[in-house]
Amino acid sequence: MQWNRSQAFFEQSKKSMAGGVSSNVRLQSQPWPLFFERAEGAMIYDVDGNGYIDYVLGQGPMLLGHSHPAVLDAVNAAMRQGQLYAGQHPQEIEVAEAMIRLVPCAELCRFGLSGSEMVQAAMRLARAVTGRTKILRFEGHYHGWFDNVLISLAHPVDESTPRTPARPYLMTAGQVTSVQDEFIVLPWNDLGAVEDLFAAQGHEIAAVMTEGMMCNTGGIPPQPGYLQGLRRLCDESGALLFMDEVITGFRLGLHGAQGRFDVVPDLATFAKAMAGGFANAALVGKAEYMERFAKDVNHSGTFNSNVISMAASAAALKELEKDNGAIYDRLEETGADLMGGIQEIVGRLGLPVLVQGVPTAFHMSFTELSAIHDYRDYAIHCDKARYDKFTFEMLKRGVRLIGRGIWYISAAHTPEQIAQTLTAVEDSLRAVS
Ligand SMILES: Cc1ncc(COP(=O)(O)O)c(C=O)c1O
Repeated sequence: MQWNRSQAFFEQSKKSMAGGVSSNVRLQSQPWPLFFERAEGAMIYDVDGNGYIDYVLGQGPMLLGHSHPAVLDAVNAAMRQGQLYAGQHPQEIEVAEAMIRLVPCAELCRFGLSGSEMVQAAMRLARAVTGRTKILRFEGHYHGWFDNVLISLAHPVDESTPRTPARPYLMTAGQVTSVQDEFIVLPWNDLGAVEDLFAAQGHEIAAVMTEGMMCNTGGIPPQPGYLQGLRRLCDESGALLFMDEVITGFRLGLHGAQGRFDVVPDLATFAKAMAGGFANAALVGKAEYMERFAKDVNHSGTFNSNVISMAASAAALKELEKDNGAIYDRLEETGADLMGGIQEIVGRLGLPVLVQGVPTAFHMSFTELSAIHDYRDYAIHCDKARYDKFTFEMLKRGVRLIGRGIWYISAAHTPEQIAQTLTAVEDSLRAVS
């Protein structure tokens, strides 16, 4: 496999874009940021003519697969009527009603364009509702790239690092340091640590902000009772429970992580999979809180609820909801076959590889652990350099993976593609062993 044209484009792009890319995440690509020109179903094609079975899926959004015809047709038809009205249009109501029908905590919605910005809206709302400032969040979780949330996603830890309370760790040059006073960071999946914190400081906490399943570091489902414990502590102390479902929303099921793990937060953010590959995002939540946007809490945006985003979401949600969410049976089955297949291979080869998570979003790592429970398990015990080598071997064999170990499944992946992927997994594991 060669990437000559991609390499030439990358050299050219560095002269007009900082680092040659528009998202720092893409800087980490191997062998360098590749250039793509087409994607359909579970396949993506680069400018050198290489095709890959894609488990990156646009970093999650392409749950239905690339270029889904129902989504494309809806967008094409809608955008011919107009694109941006700076006013209301009926399809917004259709999408809002779908969100309310599908998401347990959704009584009212607001739309924006990215997960990052809707997280900002959620935090502002929680602070307005409670009159408190501090937000509790968790190591290894990602809530966007803005100054006040890009903290403690990855930081140096070893066995001797005290578990609590960790001082928020700044992740970028140029970041305001005041965020270290506004956030409290704890390890995830440790209810005792949260209980201790609430006992001491519960009256100061505006919101507990958590991914529904930890997908940005590892693929770590909540321990049984953990989310329910957060719910209880929030209720007792008057804090809001804010579940960031930017990844998990519609990926972990038709009713999101909150449906899958049976907990109803006060607020939740959605993005990625809610719009079939187009830019759309939502903050949803209980009406008594969301109504503050109609009164004294500002949320604005030129492109919010634009015609294309709404048409894409209306179509994507319709596909997901069809036949009572029957598509999820297929998604779960495909993901389970792949997870099981990888587990069978590593068992047979006797390799220290862990596959965990849920079928539509699972994580693979080189580790001796039998499970990873939180960021520290991942940071201390998983061999990331070896996983990097593995992903490059997979790329050479026509399978595209995310470097941090998460695998996303789409409804377009076929049994043949799963079988091809498993062959590539076995060959790549042999190559890095
Ligand atoms: C849980 C979570 N929240 C928020 C974001 C930010 O979303 P966006 O990249 O759309 O700004 C992400 C992005 O991956 C995410 O995973």
